[in-house]
Amino acid sequence: MRQDRPVFEFELHAREGRARTASFTTPHGTVQTPMFMPVGTQGSVKGISPQELKDIGSQMILGNTYHLMLRPGPELVAAHGGLPGFTAYPGPFLTDSGGFQVMSLGHMRKITEEGVTFKSHLDGSKVLLTPERSMAVQEALGADVIMAFDECPPFPAEPEYIRRSLERTVRWLERCEAARTRRDQALFAIVQGGIHPELRELSLEKTLPFGTLGFAIGGLAVGESKEEMFPAVAFTAERLPEHKPRYLMGVGHPEDLIAGIALGVDMFDCVYPTRTGRFGYALTDRGRLNMNSSAPRQQLEPIDPDCDCYACRHYTRAYLAHLVRAEEMLAPRMLSLHNLRYLHRLVERARLAIARGEFSAWALTWAEQYFPKGI
Ligand code: GUN
Ligand code: ZN
Repeated sequence: MRQDRPVFEFELHAREGRARTASFTTPHGTVQTPMFMPVGTQGSVKGISPQELKDIGSQMILGNTYHLMLRPGPELVAAHGGLPGFTAYPGPFLTDSGGFQVMSLGHMRKITEEGVTFKSHLDGSKVLLTPERSMAVQEALGADVIMAFDECPPFPAEPEYIRRSLERTVRWLERCEAARTRRDQALFAIVQGGIHPELRELSLEKTLPFGTLGFAIGGLAVGESKEEMFPAVAFTAERLPEHKPRYLMGVGHPEDLIAGIALGVDMFDCVYPTRTGRFGYALTDRGRLNMNSSAPRQQLEPIDPDCDCYACRHYTRAYLAHLVRAEEMLAPRMLSLHNLRYLHRLVERARLAIARGEFSAWALTWAEQYFPKGI
């Protein structure tokens, strides 16, 4: 479908320091940033229904090219009208390009100028993923935001390797731009460069001229320390265009969202809230609660009295801890639901604080509660 009308709009509402709050309009709806995107790798946010996602304030769902291309295949998703029809989640989606997942999940990977050849983690069949193929699959999946096909080098990697890799990623970006045919999808470029300012600078210098509708900060949260990651986020975010969305890929934990927002990031995604929920942990302003431990088994209060999720409105910690212990499937569902609601509320509070010019004070109060003991 070709679209002449500009469907994408990024409108800044307020700024405080480098933090900002904005509206991002896409064909499937307008979202408020900063925002956290739940991960729906296989076309499902594990254990959570679309109605539940709507109820907890999810705005945009992340899907994965790598997984959906291998199974069930892009044609089947396209036959449902793309991810909104396939998943029955009617709102905006973002799909990752597959570059990152190939590296973490594919076997026998071989990177060439053409693309990445790998063996499927499902049946061992040999697959070639190229910028052109990634665009074709992402067009079939039909997300509102699609990501450029990139390489995310492992950590640590030699600076010379990272340089060659990011230059190839730029050539792949050019091929992505040339290959795509839909204009109702926003392509986001991905800035690489590891934790090296001079390589981030080089990636920015070569990537920014493409003028894509948004930019992602990639290549982070891959094993480096937070002392290494945040300076790279700060350096990159500061050099990205003011009037376009900035997406920090694969981050994060609650404190990472606060720090990322302070540094001017607008969008985040991470499996953390759902994965840690499946492991029996619940996020709160006072830190992470281990529902596998003995204390919650006797506690008659909700996980978090300030939380308005279904689990906190209906269940005691004691009941949920019992479900965890009995390995009932409601436990991972309710803890995932609560954790997603916690992160959505966290960014909602950040948005409100930025709008009121109270973000730095709010973030400090939050951190004092979250890390009461200091070091
Ligand atoms: N997810 C987390 N980091 C990255 C990255 O660098 N590239 C892509 N495509 N996805 C990611
Ligand atoms: Zn809750």
